[in-house]
Amino acid sequence: VEVIVQAIVLVGGEGTRLRPLTFGTPKPMVPIMNVPFLARTLERLYEAGIRDVILPAGYLPQAIIDYFGDGSRLDMNVTYVIEDEPLGTAGALKNVEQLVTGAFFVLNGDVLTSLDLRAMMAFHKERGGLGALHLIRVDDPSAFGCVVSDENHRISAFVEKPPKGSEPTNEINAGTYLLEPKVLSMIPVGCNVSIERETFPKILAGGDALYAYTTTDYWIDLGRPEHYLAAHRDILSGLMPLKLEPGVSGEGKHGVHAAIVPPVHVGPDVRIDESAMVGPNVVLGKGCSIGPNARLRESVLWEGVEVGEGAVIEESIVASRTRIGAGARLGAGTVVGHDVVIEAGTQIEPGGRVGAAAPVVSP
Ligand code: GDD
Ligand code: MG
Repeated sequence: VEVIVQAIVLVGGEGTRLRPLTFGTPKPMVPIMNVPFLARTLERLYEAGIRDVILPAGYLPQAIIDYFGDGSRLDMNVTYVIEDEPLGTAGALKNVEQLVTGAFFVLNGDVLTSLDLRAMMAFHKERGGLGALHLIRVDDPSAFGCVVSDENHRISAFVEKPPKGSEPTNEINAGTYLLEPKVLSMIPVGCNVSIERETFPKILAGGDALYAYTTTDYWIDLGRPEHYLAAHRDILSGLMPLKLEPGVSGEGKHGVHAAIVPPVHVGPDVRIDESAMVGPNVVLGKGCSIGPNARLRESVLWEGVEVGEGAVIEESIVASRTRIGAGARLGAGTVVGHDVVIEAGTQIEPGGRVGAAAPVVSP
């Protein structure tokens, strides 16, 4: 039995739908409960026995390299392969072919899931073929890659991002694959290739088999602000099991602060004025400070965010070191980038986007 020892985590996307957050932080480094998402992904791989991780990157790669280095801190071996131009989800794999030693996992870098990777290995071993793909069922498959399979789990078609109403199935590609090295030989070299639109269909056309590993695990693609907030809600409620960093979580641990409405998760060195109202479903990064009478609900603040007296923040995401002036109001669905100063009294309409218009290259 071949043991899977390698994983390729695709981390080269620009995270367009998370702008302006991703102007300063590449999508895999966006914090989930105050820890870069990719660290959580590597931890999951580690638990499945994988020590060798290849990261095809391209957009703001230095932030990733600075954090993980060679991986030794995690007892892993992390190798970066930087693309000058984005090579696409298959081109990025072809580009690391020389590093691959056997069957390997591929993970989309923006998927939070409780999928059991070892169970998926067992499924692949039992079914055979060129690969196993994790699928999940969703209410609206149009935003994803639909994958059609038969009663023997053999995949018969891929339909990427079909128009609403024309989806052939509600089972979608959940962004975790276990592939045999032969797949790499089917990808043309040196050009932008999509695994979903080109390589997977090509494998089927050539008569080789891919199998659907459909599960009911927790699953969410973090690529949109509303999903990023939903993921935090689901972790705070316990729907998505996740190990948390030391920090203050939940009710009763805030001492004097009577106006904490759980669930709330607070990083180190956070100051909350006694008259502020915080929660439910609020995550505060290291060093945040919340002023008197401020009100925060359903929101995630990254590191060092300052919230002035009487400011109101609802269903919003605020990146590191941003200052929200006294009496300012962030309507539902607002996303504020790094190092922004929101003047006192500013009203941001629901769905607002505030922040740098270009990469600021700082974590
Ligand atoms: N290295 C590299 N190079 N990585 C890339 C590139 C590239 O050119 N393009 C995208 N990626 C990475 C992204 O960083 C992300 O981690 C992953 O590949 C998927 O890209 P997304 O842009 O997030 O794709 P999507 O969410 O629209 O669709 C994909 O994921 C869905 C599940 O979340 C597809 O695989 C769908 O079929 C799938 O349903
Ligand atoms: Mg995505």
